[in-house]
Amino acid sequence: MAVPLLELAGVHKRFDGGRITAADGVDLSVAAKEAVAIVGPSGSGKTTLMNLATGLDLPDAGSVQFEGEAVGSAGRWTLLRRSRIGIVFQAFHLIGALTARENVEMPLVGAGLPARQRRSRALASLDRVNLGHRADHLPATLSGGERQRVAIARAIATEPSLLVADEPTGSLDSAASEHVVDLLLDLVRTSGAALLVVTHDAGVAERMDRVVRLVDGRVVGSETAAA
Ligand SMILES: Nc1ncnc2c1ncn2[C@@H]1O[C@H](COP(=O)(O)OP(=O)(O)OP(=O)(O)O)[C@@H](O)[C@H]1O
Ligand SMILES: [Mg+2]
Repeated sequence: MAVPLLELAGVHKRFDGGRITAADGVDLSVAAKEAVAIVGPSGSGKTTLMNLATGLDLPDAGSVQFEGEAVGSAGRWTLLRRSRIGIVFQAFHLIGALTARENVEMPLVGAGLPARQRRSRALASLDRVNLGHRADHLPATLSGGERQRVAIARAIATEPSLLVADEPTGSLDSAASEHVVDLLLDLVRTSGAALLVVTHDAGVAERMDRVVRLVDGRVVGSETAAA
């Protein structure tokens, strides 16, 4: 079998001097190009799992492999997040003083691309989320759905192999939410990136290839979508 894109094995994470167990022996394997929803009650460890999968947090025990590499250090994860992993947050995290295009260029600065290439890559990325015509707008002049699409454009600008999104539709109404999910799935199909998405919305979850359910930091179910 092919090496999974992402593999967590026996991952434990505790907080507050061990009083809170946020990940309690999590095993999770994500294949290239797979779209996986992470669901579960508030406090069940979904965000912790996303942070462990992207190296924003390091496990207390267990291992996280990305593209076949056991990634151990925070520094290595930083490099991977610059080049191979794109992250979309619920609250967008756009920089208010920068235009849509400049926001999308930010990860390309980290990747060391010259200015002209950054600019054209950023514009291409905005085109992919149907926002090419809003490139010079500041976030404050965009709708919530448009801001989230800028955040997605920023996350895909480096052409990552893993796109991670924590409640990407949590701040959006149902129409904008539907549009963002359409877009994420379309990107997965056309770019070849895998998608790991946390959602409270059952309608969003069931559109993914697989739904992984967490309770108290443990995986309690993994259902493949009905064909
Ligand atoms: N940095 C931290 N310090 C202390 N406790 C933390 C920290 N991060 C998470 N926790 C705790 O770990 C548990 C899991 O939190 P996590 O944020 O992963 O849950 P979640 O499933 O994302 O919840 P929600 O749906 O509300 O976003 C919770 O009990 C939370 O309070
Ligand atoms: Mg969370």
